[in-house]
Amino acid sequence: MKDSTKCVWGAESLEHLGSVSMPIYQTANFGFKDTEEVLKAVRGEEGKYLYTRWDNPTVKLAEKKIALLEEGEDSLLFSSGMAAIICSALAFLSKGDKALAFRELYGEAINFFKNILPKFGIEVSFVKDYEELERELNKRTKLIYFETPTNPTLKVIDIAKVKALAEKYKTLVFVDNTFATPINQKPLKLGADLVIHSASKYLNGHSDLIAGAIVGRNELIGKIKAMRRVLGCVLDPFGAWLLIRGIKTLDIRVERHNKNALELAKYLEKQSKVNKVYYPGLPTNEYYELSKKQMKGFGGMLSFELKGGYKEAKGFVERLRFRILGASLGGVETIITHPASTSHSMLSKEEREILGIKDGLIRVSLGIEDVEDIIEDFDKAFNYL
Ligand SMILES: Cc1ncc(COP(=O)(O)O)c(C=O)c1O
Repeated sequence: MKDSTKCVWGAESLEHLGSVSMPIYQTANFGFKDTEEVLKAVRGEEGKYLYTRWDNPTVKLAEKKIALLEEGEDSLLFSSGMAAIICSALAFLSKGDKALAFRELYGEAINFFKNILPKFGIEVSFVKDYEELERELNKRTKLIYFETPTNPTLKVIDIAKVKALAEKYKTLVFVDNTFATPINQKPLKLGADLVIHSASKYLNGHSDLIAGAIVGRNELIGKIKAMRRVLGCVLDPFGAWLLIRGIKTLDIRVERHNKNALELAKYLEKQSKVNKVYYPGLPTNEYYELSKKQMKGFGGMLSFELKGGYKEAKGFVERLRFRILGASLGGVETIITHPASTSHSMLSKEEREILGIKDGLIRVSLGIEDVEDIIEDFDKAFNYL
């Protein structure tokens, strides 16, 4: 199956009384005719369910669909992207271990690696490039974590290269594929051990769900599943149902997101009031060649730096009409974020500057509107500056 077919048909069946839409198994627990059947469910036999914190048929269908899209053996869903990150990391880290992360990450992920893991005796180092990564690797390093493209400056990290470096100590490589989506990039095929998603974003696509997902080999997923059962951070059946519905249009949405972002990036590159455009699909971008090699499409996210600073950025974003001003990304509607005051506001100005997040930086998650309307809207806002 090709991706668009997987989105629609992947893992679906008409087993549930012929229902075309997967029923929402809104139940906490399952009942059995005898103790043998209970035992089968306790052992986790295929198709047997005991308790929704462990497994649930609606959640399972969404998990299978995502595993197919990412071309991995199995998948798990979580109550949020952060829950997916934290649960996956905790499944492999113990006191005395070391974790490495590329320093450009979603703000709360930075918070987890920098402030929470060290409380449990786990050493964490943030690295800026492959050389630093190689230097920081040692036999205690159990995990390398990164996003690609990164948030919010769309840096592209070479997944195969990181994997090659990680081989020396058999360190696990976790890739946050939220920005790219499995339509544009398949990290497992490039050597990643685990793919992580904030499914609140493109996978669901309608800005009405908080969820997380991971995909990887059975051996890893089994360990993380045991941790999820303890932490209890599983996605609920209704959330999974929304996700299944969202994924049906993922391929077609991403196609439009990609197209709109490329058009807007080209437009922004020509604006005199813009210092710099960050979009890996621009031939002038330093990651263009790597992105072409690693990604099928360049994604729906871009950032740009306005000349000026906070005042100009504030004036600009507040004048746009077709946009949600706030946090998050990956919805059908264009979403504008001012990282300095939202996603990265928990960092100090100095910390933000190190990550290239200046006060004039604006991040755009292109929706699926007609890009001509978006560009006209941007034109008007530039004219006010
Ligand atoms: C790249 C990335 N990863 C993970 C997360 C966390 O996901 P969630 O908000 O679903 O917990 C976010 C949230 O914005 C994100 O942008």
